[in-house]
Amino acid sequence: SEAATTRSTPAVRYEPLNGAPVAGPRLGRLHTPHGVVDLPAFMPVGTQGAVKGVEAERLAQTGAQMVLGNTYHLAIRPGERVVAELGGLHRFAAWPGAMLTDSGGFQVFSLADKMKLDERGARFRSHVNGDLVDLTPERSVEIQHALGADVMMALDHVVALPCPRETVVEAMRRSIRWAERCREHADKIGASATQSLFGIVQGGLDAELRVECAEELVKIGFAGYAIGGLSVGEPPEEMYRTIEATTPSLPAERPRYLMGVGAPTDLLEAVDRGVDMFDCVMPTRNGRNGLAFVPEGTLRLKNSRFQTDDTPLEQGCPCPACRQYSRGCLRHLLAAGEMLGPMMVTIHNLTYYQRLMADIRLAIAEGRFAELKAARLAAWR
Ligand code: GUN
Ligand code: ZN
Repeated sequence: SEAATTRSTPAVRYEPLNGAPVAGPRLGRLHTPHGVVDLPAFMPVGTQGAVKGVEAERLAQTGAQMVLGNTYHLAIRPGERVVAELGGLHRFAAWPGAMLTDSGGFQVFSLADKMKLDERGARFRSHVNGDLVDLTPERSVEIQHALGADVMMALDHVVALPCPRETVVEAMRRSIRWAERCREHADKIGASATQSLFGIVQGGLDAELRVECAEELVKIGFAGYAIGGLSVGEPPEEMYRTIEATTPSLPAERPRYLMGVGAPTDLLEAVDRGVDMFDCVMPTRNGRNGLAFVPEGTLRLKNSRFQTDDTPLEQGCPCPACRQYSRGCLRHLLAAGEMLGPMMVTIHNLTYYQRLMADIRLAIAEGRFAELKAARLAAWR
């Protein structure tokens, strides 16, 4: 069958460009049915199908090549059948580039009401309308297949940290069993012909558990591997240590994706430990709140010191915000509740993140990633 033959040629393919080190900075490309994504890559978050406040053509101008959508939100509203009827998520969101959908595991853990979780899956009340939602590994794959993103994520069991080791072990082992069910179901319903499935490594901050989880997922076999359950309040050093403990157990010839991370510093530290892909709400959520990322750190635009500042957010930034508006004007737009304010700072922040990733890729290509990292960390401090 098609599903059986495509299992050996995944819809999404990783092309290494600097010899595929198992850890350390990696340069590569992700080939997807909707175009090539240069790695390391940052994916803006389009929870509802749209990146908040940014229309698709403007999003492309920031340099983004791949966008994340959320199974949990889109299944609740408008429903995956509506999205499928409107042509699938790419068409629906007017995004011709690559897309990835998260499985809902993390949102169930962070947003759902009255959640009941067992081996079969999660049952909970929608945070939107209170409807009863039943999310199993099979159902998550079916929703993600209807949405049609290039990369689907396995349904995982995320726990709040800190928690007892026994709880972390149980959730990690359950995540492995669920990942296997996702793998089998994706093949069974023929999703694997056009979509690839990534497994998610869990295991808290325990290096041994991370290695066990990575090894078990590799035995099942996925097109890519995510590192989940991080950036949930642990100190950054703990997160870096956990990434460092995980990446050596992942196949060098598959992409690695650190979920929900992070600040610019985190991206540099994770790339340095062998991560290829990221997503985070930081540039968009912070942008909406008037916090702009610049080479020196961040600017809180609501601060009165920007009232008569006639300079752009960032000198030399090619984004529409920096080409058109002064800091003083953006501060005014934010203060006045004018929607253009959050939109412009969001676009600047997304441009900042994409330029950072482009700088990282160039530095890896030219063998000077360590210098770039040191210089950026020093400038942000
Ligand atoms: N987003 C951020 N962290 C996670 C995680 O651990 N699992 C999933 N599914 N999504 C995430
Ligand atoms: Zn800018």
